[in-house]
Amino acid sequence: MINNKIFRHDILLDNTEICNLQQDSDALLKGIVQGHRIVFIGRRNTGKTSLVKARIIPQFQNMNPKALVVFIDLMGVKTLNQISARFQSAFEHSISRLNPTTAFLKKLALSIRNLRPTMGIDALTGQPEFSLGVDSQHSSIPFAAIISEIGKYHIEHSALLVIDEFQDVHYVEEAEALFRNAFQQLPADLPVVAMGSKKSILAKIFAVPKAPLASWGRQYEISKISSEDYTPYFNERLNPVGCTVKELLMGALIQEMDGIPEAINLIGDWWQRHYAGGGELTSQDIFPAIAGVVEERHSLFLEHMKFYTEKEETFLRALARSQPVKSPLGSLFLSKLKMSPGGAGPLIKRLEADAIIYRQPEGFVIGDPILAHWLRRN
Ligand SMILES: Nc1ncnc2c1ncn2[C@@H]1O[C@H](COP(=O)(O)OP(=O)(O)OP(=O)(O)O)[C@@H](O)[C@H]1O
Ligand SMILES: [Mg+2]
Repeated sequence: MINNKIFRHDILLDNTEICNLQQDSDALLKGIVQGHRIVFIGRRNTGKTSLVKARIIPQFQNMNPKALVVFIDLMGVKTLNQISARFQSAFEHSISRLNPTTAFLKKLALSIRNLRPTMGIDALTGQPEFSLGVDSQHSSIPFAAIISEIGKYHIEHSALLVIDEFQDVHYVEEAEALFRNAFQQLPADLPVVAMGSKKSILAKIFAVPKAPLASWGRQYEISKISSEDYTPYFNERLNPVGCTVKELLMGALIQEMDGIPEAINLIGDWWQRHYAGGGELTSQDIFPAIAGVVEERHSLFLEHMKFYTEKEETFLRALARSQPVKSPLGSLFLSKLKMSPGGAGPLIKRLEADAIIYRQPEGFVIGDPILAHWLRRN
């Protein structure tokens, strides 16, 4: 039999490629069915988007075939207009899927001004395609109006609104207040999921008492995959090339990769490509694989570093060497860097806001464990 199971990275997963996360998807789906507002958080590359898009949304759609599910990715938005444009195209896409009746289109035309909603056929795919028919004379429809339409649909049928990379609205003036207002007017049982990986910004949005969205939603953090669950996932991919891993080794690898699935998969992928016929792998096989992956990513990381100042890079290298660091502003850590707390404070805030470093219970760490290894080596 041909082995077509591979270790994926840098890509959204299919449902079958998601290792476990069953508890998370059950909990989130339950919250969605109950109409909760949810803030779904987790570090970079922990599988949040894959879980929601490839497992939770399809399950919800199976339960509610008529439901309007709108998934919006707000990564990198800088203006209210950009937010509105993303909402508009996501809404059009979701309505296309439902193949609405003419009566529905007429109702929609009446409820938002300057619209000519139409159903057509996409010339490339042959699939039904819905367009709101925004008049080119007018600017785009404000996202609050789209949210309100989702609310109206929910009252008659059922709807779900998911906003990925929600933290990026923090940099758009007025956006949080407008979202607050739009969310407040939605039916109380319409499920809304706001998700993202920049935890420090999400905390500013949802946890700072004076913020417009303070205390909005219930927070849910994605869990770490256990070695018990990851071992069969690895063996399914490694056994066909003649390797096996035991739970103990898997535990060591998970710990070395700080529990980040993408980094763990990169090691699996390296083993699959380099250790064919290797039999039972041991903890001694972890470091050559890390070195191999680090080498393969060298030019990528060099590019990556161009986005950081010399001071930031120095800080990152020192953090990588000493992590987890409980008090990065303490004299013990800063004396090695020749930096003052006044200089390091804003720098740490910036790196944290970018999700390049994370504040964990044990202390600050580099977000990407492979990058941490690279920083230590180079
Ligand atoms: N449960 C999992 N099983 C296997 N691989 C996983 C799992 N979760 C995450 N990954 C790995 O992480 C990668 C990124 O997944 P995904 O984009 O869904 O994560 P994310 O948390 O949304 O990341 P980001 O915060 O960058 O948006 C996948 O390509 C895969 O390598
Ligand atoms: Mg994501």
